[in-house]
Amino acid sequence: MGPPGPPGRAEHPRLTTPLAGEPWWRSAVVYQIYPRSFADADGDGVGDLEGIRRHLDHLVWLGVDAVWVSPFFRSPMADFGYDVADYCDVDPLFGTLADFDRLLAEAHERGLKMLIDWVPNHTSNQHPWFAESKSSRSSPKRDWYVWRDRPNNWKAAFDETQSAWTWDEDTGQYYLHLFLPEQPDLNWANAEVVEAMHGVLRFWLDRGVDGFRIDVVHGLGKDQSFPDAPPETADRPWSSQNDHESTHAILRDLRRLVDGYSGDRVLVGEVYLLSTRQVAPYYGDGDELHLAFNFPPLYEPWEAPAWRHSVERVVEELDPRRAWPTWVLSNHDNPRHRTRYGSEARARSAAVLLLTLRGTPFLYAGEELGLEDAEISPERRVDPGGRDGCRAPIPWDASAGHGWAGEDTWLPWPPEADARSAAVGRQDEGSVLHLYRRLLVARRASVALRLGSWSPLPSPSGVFAYVREADGDRRAVVVNYTDDAVEVDLPGPWAVQVASDGSGEGERYEGVAGASQALLLSPGGS
Ligand code: GLC
Repeated sequence: MGPPGPPGRAEHPRLTTPLAGEPWWRSAVVYQIYPRSFADADGDGVGDLEGIRRHLDHLVWLGVDAVWVSPFFRSPMADFGYDVADYCDVDPLFGTLADFDRLLAEAHERGLKMLIDWVPNHTSNQHPWFAESKSSRSSPKRDWYVWRDRPNNWKAAFDETQSAWTWDEDTGQYYLHLFLPEQPDLNWANAEVVEAMHGVLRFWLDRGVDGFRIDVVHGLGKDQSFPDAPPETADRPWSSQNDHESTHAILRDLRRLVDGYSGDRVLVGEVYLLSTRQVAPYYGDGDELHLAFNFPPLYEPWEAPAWRHSVERVVEELDPRRAWPTWVLSNHDNPRHRTRYGSEARARSAAVLLLTLRGTPFLYAGEELGLEDAEISPERRVDPGGRDGCRAPIPWDASAGHGWAGEDTWLPWPPEADARSAAVGRQDEGSVLHLYRRLLVARRASVALRLGSWSPLPSPSGVFAYVREADGDRRAVVVNYTDDAVEVDLPGPWAVQVASDGSGEGERYEGVAGASQALLLSPGGS
């Protein structure tokens, strides 16, 4: 770990009015909680809503603005909650609706917004709607799902040998599932499905949630002729290719519904199309998604040219639409960036990048602790998609149970669970945890970082540097992707406000970025 940063005096002023006319979600930092892995209050080794409630103060201390909770609805858990059997109830594993209401109320008391995960592309095969649909070809809900006499060549996710169609012996037809056979796709071309799913949104909006992360949103509208995937991409899952114009009308209706509520409720869509050009249209003309995930940067290697290109693509595609970007380095579907980038120094620099680019950053619980993925032995594998490593439980302290109520957790602990625990990180001002906190304090205090313009600065090849600016407020950022110190001359003077390794904070910037170091600079320091 680097030397300690400045004393932990940094305070978090609440963002009362972010900027006149700006919705809260533009300047917010969102923190993703995967509920199975966050905190367990009842001792069954699986996290729950009460566990989240007990740790809200961690989030306030850290300084995030909003929480997105991955699915906690009734589910047989074939995909750990992304297979929903009742959209309007809490699975007993996670608690009750009363637990949810209490969690939401206590989050709101602390000034935290709360987004929940809405999974509209498919239900569980145990959902009563599917049971009814499957019961006979003449069922009134037959058309709520996608039934065909002949499959096309679409592949399901998770296993490229698996067709996206499963034969139903009883009724003699195939049904479509872009994911597991236990996750049949809903038919959004059916008006009753649309109405039922709008009802789900209203149920949660009326309860007071601040918005939704929408699962696989690009999957909703499907070409009703169900054409084969082209030969070049036929072996890739259709869930990463479906991109049909009919989704946009569906989104405009969702947007109208959500905008009908007060409080700038937000729709954040998971558009899992690995091209920023294809993601951008999901913002519509400001009348579809408020925010869309854009995953190409997440899959970039830790290299300056790749990142420069990725960020420039976002500017080129999103700016003309006045669409607001999002940034994600880690989530519950991918190895953590600490693991991908191969060193703590790089992961620290990546945090500086993530929290200073123009747009809304999404943190994945545990990245603020510098967690790596857990090693999962073959006997402990549970996820059909091979994503267990990043879902390891969060260690809250250095005791044997790491603050979890029971000792047998559903997945093994990540490496160095003692040293990386929240309690230990909090006591060490040189920790990754304190770095995230200093960055979040700096963001809160700077309108340039929250909402300002972004322009690249000329810099040597292994370095990515840029400037943020708004209302006379300026910050510069220098990210050194190389493992050597590099001279980076900037028209200054500048002072080091936050350094990824904590060194030199408060001092004049001397024109050098250390090996794998990133710096947030503020004007001054002469
Ligand atoms: C999304 C989720 C992922 C899930 C899939 C199917 O990609 O992020 O976890 O398995 O959708 O719902």
